[in-house]
This record gives sequence, structure tokens and C-alpha cells, in this order.
Amino acid sequence: MDLSVRIRNSVFPNPVGVASGVFGYAKEYELLVPLQQLGAIYTKAITPKPRAGNPAPRLAETRWGMLNSIGLANVGLSAFRSQKLPFLRSLGVPVVVNVAGSVEEDYAEVIRGLESEADVWGYEVNVSCPNVRHGGQSFGSRPEVLHDLIRLLRPLTDRPLVVKLSPNTADIAELGRAAVAAGADALSAINTLKGMVIDIHKKRPKVRRGIAGFSGPAVLPVGVAAVYTLSRAVPVPVIGLGGIAGWEDAVQYLLAGASAIQVGSALFRDPDLPVSILKGIRTYAEHQGFTQVGDFAAALKWEEVG
Ligand SMILES: Cc1cc2nc3c(=O)[nH]c(=O)nc-3n(C[C@H](O)[C@H](O)[C@H](O)COP(=O)(O)O)c2cc1C
Repeated sequence: MDLSVRIRNSVFPNPVGVASGVFGYAKEYELLVPLQQLGAIYTKAITPKPRAGNPAPRLAETRWGMLNSIGLANVGLSAFRSQKLPFLRSLGVPVVVNVAGSVEEDYAEVIRGLESEADVWGYEVNVSCPNVRHGGQSFGSRPEVLHDLIRLLRPLTDRPLVVKLSPNTADIAELGRAAVAAGADALSAINTLKGMVIDIHKKRPKVRRGIAGFSGPAVLPVGVAAVYTLSRAVPVPVIGLGGIAGWEDAVQYLLAGASAIQVGSALFRDPDLPVSILKGIRTYAEHQGFTQVGDFAAALKWEEVG
């Protein structure tokens, strides 16, 4: 069985990656996860300069999932290159650098700065972060703005450009089409939903910034719907994430049309998940007689009505 996934000129050895922001720069998980078995590592968002992020508290656990308002805290391009990339590179696993910024030029600066670095597999363009006042989701909610950004980035690299979309939009297909028309090689969906949880005793939102990004098991149906919609709207691979907490969840995404998946918040509870998910996908595929990832999407039994 060949579970590899091709995007542009590059290949993931298997479809199970770890999502941006929940895996740091991988070193943090060195003792917990057999890193070499991962299909891909999506780094924490990288911006040109280091960012401290939003004020605390910026995480809250809820019964339904978690809220975060990290605000793209990261070490910045230069420290990423000198301190984080060497370890990531040593793993021999595809490293997808999640790129963010406040203005278009920030995204371009990060990509330019990494082009001379070996072993960067590709870029995930984060136009979907709900936790920053400037940039982030504001690039990913208007098709013309998104199109212009990707058109600016496309000539800067021959590596895969994956555009990560937000579910906080009326028409995700339109955004996906705009990104692909401008040269995106793949889409990933979903980033977090906007959410708020209030402590009724303190009468305050539990996260300092009030509205934050909501992720975890409860968002799975939103992500599966987004992937289903996108995979029918664009001719490029779609990478599915949101709420995956076991192999059955991952299989739902693959049946909906995803070519690969990412494991996010659920890793905090179970760092072994990527390994057990890959095993579950393989066993399911064997039972179904699937021999490649594309067989999942082709097997979905459902005809659209109305
Ligand atoms: C603490 C935290 C930090 C995150 N940071 C980023 C980030 O830097 N860039 C990004 O594109 N997504 C970021 N995300 C979003 C996740 O990659 C993912 O899209 C989202 O959490 C949905 O997946 P999940 O339900 O499996 O967690 C972050 C999520 C969490 C929980």
C-alpha cells in the first residue's frame, strides 16, 4: 500500500502530519513522539521579527475543546533559521513552515529568508489566524486580498505553497478558488473557529482577549464540511484538520476528499496520536482494499441532492 502524498514537486511519505502551533518546533516532543514516523511537521507560525504574542491568560480548556489566543508568538525568522531549523532538518521528516505576518511583505520576507535553507519542504501560508488585530484572518477572508497575497508569493519559491483557510467565512470555496487561481499548490482547512467562554463567577471571558480561537473535537464536523466543499471546488490537494482525535476522525477527512490530515489540539492529551492514527488508516485501507490515499475520496457513497 502506498500512502504517500504528492504536492507540486514534493512528497509526504504518509498522510499524517502535526498541525502548526501545537507542536512547537518539534524538539519539545522529542522524547514523547517517534518523530521520524510523522508524515509532516507544520511549524509554529514564523514572522519576520520575534513576537511575544497576546497577554495571558491565553489558553482555556472547555468541555467542548480548547480556546487559544496565542497571537502568533514565535521566535522570528532569524532565530528559527539558526536555532530551530537544524534540529527539524535532522529528523528527515518534511518540514512545512507556517508563515504569518501583519502585512503582505512580512510573508514575502519569511519565504525569501528560507529559500536558501535546505530541507524546507514547503510553506503553509497562514491567512486564517483569528488572534491578531492586523494580518492573519484579514488576508484570508476576502478573495481579492488573498489572491493578491498568493500572487506576490508564488514567484518567490518553487516549493509547495499550501494556503491555510479559516472556517470563519461565508464561502470557503470562493476563498479556495482565489488562492488556487493565484498559484496555491494545496489548501489546508481548517484553522480555529472564533469562540468565547465566560467565567460566570468572575464575570469575565476566560481568555484575556475575549474572543479566541476554538479547536478540538467539537470542530470536527466543521472541518469535514470545509474539506468536502473545497475538494469539490478546486483541482489541487486539500489537507484536512480540525478536531481529529483518533484514526476514525482522520478517515472521515480522507473520505470527504482530503489527501492528507493534521493532528492539532488532541496532541496535548495524547502525543502518540499521529502514530496510532497512521496505523488505523493503514488497517482500514487494507480492509477496504484501498491501495492509495486517493481511494478514500473515491469511495465516498453519497450523491448531492437539491
Ligand atoms: C495553541 C494553538 C496554537 C496554534 N497556532 C497556530 C499557528 O501558529 N498557525 C496556524 O496556522 N494555526 C495555529 N493553530 C491552529 C491549528 O493548527 C489548527 O488549525 C486548529 O487548532 C484546528 O485543529 P484541531 O482542532 O485539531 O486543534 C493553533 C492552535 C492551537 C490550539
